[in-house]
Amino acid sequence: MSTPADVGVTGLAVMGRNLARNLARSGNTVAVHNRTPAKTRALVADFGDEGAFVPAESPQELVASLKRPRRLITMVKAGEATDAVIAEVAPLLEEGDIIVDGGNAHFADTRRRERQLRERGIRFVGAGISGGEEGALHGPSIMPGGSAEAYAALAPTLEGIAAEAADGSPCTAHVGTDGAGHFVKMVHNGIEYADMQLIGEAFHLLRDVAGYTPAQIADVFAAWNRGRLDSYLMEISAEVLTHTDAETGAPFVDVVADRAEQKGTGRWTVQTALELGVPVPGIAEAVFARSLSGHGELRAASAGLPGPHAEALDGDAAKRFADQVEQALYASKLASYAQGWHMLTAGAREYGWDLDLGAIAAIWRGGCIIRAAFLDRVRAAYAADPGLTTLLADAGFAQELGRAQGDWRSAVATATHHGVPVPGFAAALSYYDTLRAGRLPAALTQAQRDFFGAHTYRRSDREGVFHTRWGADR
Ligand code: ATR
Repeated sequence: MSTPADVGVTGLAVMGRNLARNLARSGNTVAVHNRTPAKTRALVADFGDEGAFVPAESPQELVASLKRPRRLITMVKAGEATDAVIAEVAPLLEEGDIIVDGGNAHFADTRRRERQLRERGIRFVGAGISGGEEGALHGPSIMPGGSAEAYAALAPTLEGIAAEAADGSPCTAHVGTDGAGHFVKMVHNGIEYADMQLIGEAFHLLRDVAGYTPAQIADVFAAWNRGRLDSYLMEISAEVLTHTDAETGAPFVDVVADRAEQKGTGRWTVQTALELGVPVPGIAEAVFARSLSGHGELRAASAGLPGPHAEALDGDAAKRFADQVEQALYASKLASYAQGWHMLTAGAREYGWDLDLGAIAAIWRGGCIIRAAFLDRVRAAYAADPGLTTLLADAGFAQELGRAQGDWRSAVATATHHGVPVPGFAAALSYYDTLRAGRLPAALTQAQRDFFGAHTYRRSDREGVFHTRWGADR
């Protein structure tokens, strides 16, 4: 019998395999298992020299190889596969054992699974893991949700494999109970959609309005990446834009079909936001933009519709415009982060999680797809005022918005003038203007509702609920 394993991983596709390797490289003895045993054997054959692996051919063998309390991480496909694996291993476990679901589960499923397993004495931790393939291997951002004592039993292991932020702290922390970890991961992905959309719009504007080539845009993005927009997504966008297609020699971005796909976490974010009553227009526009890009029939049917005639800018005008786009991108990004944090606040209230809004920013500083210097500013904003109603109201951010808003408006106006779609920039600007407006036309909406449906209204000058007998004296 080999040494008992510190931790087990079942599900050895891309993410599971890399996470298991990361665990082994960090000094853990790792029991590894996959439904199809060939993947387990391949892992041990290819990477067995990286650390201590204990291959298991069956769930029984897997469970039997683990130290008590057992700690088993499932990295299988989210949904039915996760339920199937839990149904298979749970009867083999004992009270106090821990199952960690590191897949991309919907937080509502995680809440259900945690409740069901708790009744059987098994501790269930739903851990959002971000960072993709590379992150899983070299250090992801890990967002574990479950009981505090289950987290305590996992903390040294998770902290040992997570990414490190620039200040050396690990990019993982106990996020909250039951589904909190997967909820936070879902919001992370929603913000990721928005970030990607905004960068896409900046690219589109620099290309079509400033007339820049992909290589020139790569230089602009690389320069932005040295400033306040420093982020992983900015960095890889610059790199993608320098890439040429090996076959044709054309800029790579020009040979990729312009139809964005999605696995659905952005859609979950928007669906949940609608249920929670949280406006997330930046994230919603990003999901819609991907969806619209894929509607080839609509695009083909509309291709002949008239657009404006506007000449591309050149020289100093193009340079000046690029600066405006930087301001628009930064301000729009701030707006979508404000929406994401609003959602975190609302989720915490709805589901009874004690989310630490600054700590979430802190564990996103490294390892995950939206990692960015900017997140340390978000962390600092909540450290300065844990009760901050919206990120936009943080004194530092508000000041930056004040400086950006003129250029932000110009960028959106120029985009409109040139007929370049900027749903992300424009929705962000409308969000900003809605929040700062003294009066909104919601007053007229309420009046209309009272008119056609006797839905009543409140008055701005006194308390109470009112209804007008419309048309009574007509
Ligand atoms: P990735 O990490 O590449 O994103 P995924 O599609 O999320 O992977 O998950 C694939 C993993 O889930 C595989 O390990 C798969 O096992 P097989 O290699 O045997 O296909 C596992 N998986 C899918 N359905 C499963 C089930 N019903 N029971 C057990 N494991 C399952």
